[in-house]
Amino acid sequence: MMLGIDIMDVDRFVDMDNERLSRIFSAREIEYFQKKNMAPETIAGMFCAKEAFFKALGTGITPANILKLEVLHGQSGAPHYHFHPDILAQHQYLSTSEIKVSISNTKRTSVAVCIILKQFYTTVNRMTNI
Ligand SMILES: CC(C)(COP(=O)(O)OP(=O)(O)OC[C@H]1O[C@@H](n2cnc3c(N)ncnc32)[C@H](O)[C@@H]1OP(=O)(O)O)[C@@H](O)C(=O)NCCC(=O)NCCS
Repeated sequence: MMLGIDIMDVDRFVDMDNERLSRIFSAREIEYFQKKNMAPETIAGMFCAKEAFFKALGTGITPANILKLEVLHGQSGAPHYHFHPDILAQHQYLSTSEIKVSISNTKRTSVAVCIILKQFYTTVNRMTNI
């Protein structure tokens, strides 16, 4: 199991201009912010979710990897990750892992946790199928 957590002051994300946003977030993520009236706590929470994933992975967030991970929301509003193929190619176990993210916000602070549960049995199954 791999675990990552991140916490941010929301005020760092107040009135962030589009150029800066698009260096950190995809068009789909920015569309979600627009639906949420650009609430800075939502933006901060999604940044935390990215940071939490890369902490869990052990690489940390970098300008090169930040746009290769999207935080999307399903019908219920619950967040989940969507990975660029580069990330899946670099960390192949992710394709078979169970990956969970949870975000919580106040007006001042956002926090997110990420858990990556590696599915070792898949390897065993594959080996026994050889
Ligand atoms: C959605 C819910 C989990 C949010 O909890 P909260 O304490 O109000 O708010 P938090 O700041 O802790 O969490 C907000 C974040 O949770 C995430 N979230 C939203 N819906 C979610 C869901 N169904 N499951 C998990 N996470 C959810 C989002 O990332 C959200 O951030 P965003 O709105 O900025 O995108 C909570 O309201 C809930 O359980 N709702 C379902 C039941 C319901 O709607 N009850 C209405 C009152 S009876």
